Amino acid sequence: MAEEDGNDKDTPSGKAVDDKPARRRLDRRDVLLGLSTVPALGLFGYAWSKKHQYDQVQKTAASASKAATSANLSEINVALIGAGAQGQVLLDAMLRIPGLGFRAVCDIWKEYNQKRVVNTLKKFKFEVNGYEDHREMLDKEKQLDAVVIATPDFWHAPHTVDCLKAGKHVYCEKEMSNTLDGAKSMVLAARETGKLLQIGHQRRSHPRYQHCYEKLIQEAHLLGRIVTVNGQWNRAVSPDLGWPERYAIPGDRLKQYGFKSMEQFRNWRWFKGLGGGPVVDLGSHQIDIFNWFLGASPSHVMASGGNDYHDPATHEWYDTVMAIYEYETKAGKARAYYQTQTTNGSQGYFENFMGDQGTLVLSESEANNPGLLYRDPNAPAWDEWVQKGYVTEPKLQEKKAESEQAVLDVRESVSPDQHRVPIVLRDPYHQPHLQNFFDAVRGTAKLNCPAEIGYETAVTVLKVNEAIEAKQRLSFRPEEFRV
Ligand SMILES: NC(=O)c1ccc[n+]([C@@H]2O[C@H](COP(=O)([O-])OP(=O)(O)OC[C@H]3O[C@@H](n4cnc5c(N)ncnc54)[C@H](O)[C@@H]3O)[C@@H](O)[C@H]2O)c1
Repeated sequence: MAEEDGNDKDTPSGKAVDDKPARRRLDRRDVLLGLSTVPALGLFGYAWSKKHQYDQVQKTAASASKAATSANLSEINVALIGAGAQGQVLLDAMLRIPGLGFRAVCDIWKEYNQKRVVNTLKKFKFEVNGYEDHREMLDKEKQLDAVVIATPDFWHAPHTVDCLKAGKHVYCEKEMSNTLDGAKSMVLAARETGKLLQIGHQRRSHPRYQHCYEKLIQEAHLLGRIVTVNGQWNRAVSPDLGWPERYAIPGDRLKQYGFKSMEQFRNWRWFKGLGGGPVVDLGSHQIDIFNWFLGASPSHVMASGGNDYHDPATHEWYDTVMAIYEYETKAGKARAYYQTQTTNGSQGYFENFMGDQGTLVLSESEANNPGLLYRDPNAPAWDEWVQKGYVTEPKLQEKKAESEQAVLDVRESVSPDQHRVPIVLRDPYHQPHLQNFFDAVRGTAKLNCPAEIGYETAVTVLKVNEAIEAKQRLSFRPEEFRV
């Protein structure tokens, strides 16, 4: 699973940073050789092990990277800013995409994350330089075409704006920014420079999400009118992230980059001014899907949240949030509930769209909630869509009493037929979105999550924290969603 945070336990390994092998293009054999020499990375492990558990009835191959080989592609020169947990995940996915040449890695944790990723890329035969300061990188690495940014949220705007102004295309992780001013400056910089800016809401490029939206909702109208939505990302209690003492960043460097201490540097998500807390970190992925599938931005939000479990001295943002959005969709009113909490992982994460003819439960995960549809007993038959392969054959739900002695009430509702969404992603979760970005850089695709969409999502999500503070139902003005 693409976790939102990770504790990097590996120590940086490999040869000295200035040991540069000859530069040449990466081919598939290099990738495999590289993989065999970096066992600690577990490049494929995190996604594959889960896929094997998935017992699907009918599989549709949905690989985003088609038959492209590096031989017929011009090389795109790429840099990574932010080589932490997510930088590593994105790199693992990018190493599977042909035609990319990695030239630079920028990370202020020089002695740990930067060193680890530079050494990894050298094992893949890239002549790559490490930088602490992104402006120095942009000054020296003139040949860069694109920059991938995976730094803490409060750095997204300065990093993105500087890269765009230096003439680079940018893939920037979500949440677009922790402030609306920051997000706005990113939209404007993309517009002014004419460079591409993709925001890392990777579900927008996920073939299962695209299938559900384009085929099941738009074309087949299997859900009928969507009236209610709910989604959640629940997590069990986890300890704060630590660091190996010998690799601690000196205090003056931390301060220079906006961090008060190593605790704050490692756990930036929980701090006001640096991240937005769990609802922004996790909710931004799923609330983005609410807007996408409903074809609308919300009109109102109300929310309740607080530090119900964690110590507010070390966890400034809310550990528990429950939010309700109201939408005026083309079909009528819809309400959406979103919950995130960090004390119990019950049922993990998913989105659930409920219409007057059917229900869709889906998630990015191939192991948990990868896509189930329930046809309402009164809805028209779905035979046509089963024959077309849009959904699987139904599994009939028989209502049974929990205990053999129990007697069921005859008025018990008939359970709806259960179908599956027959789309399996056989690549790491972020690969299709990165592939879409690099295809757009080559001029062969349109971005699936350009700056304007990232901005709409940022407006939608950041207002939850405001509503909690205000203890009021807040409204959105339609013009708020546009820059
Ligand atoms: N799309 C997804 O599924 C997903 C998943 C996880 C994280 N993310 C996003 O990725 C980003 C990074 O998250 P993470 O979990 O990797 O955090 P992290 O703390 O593990 O990594 C951040 C890295 O950025 C470096 N850094 C901090 N300030 C810097 C600066 N000014 N210049 C250069 N490097 C700097 C740090 O040293 C660290 O290596 C966040 O925006 C997060 O929301 C997205």
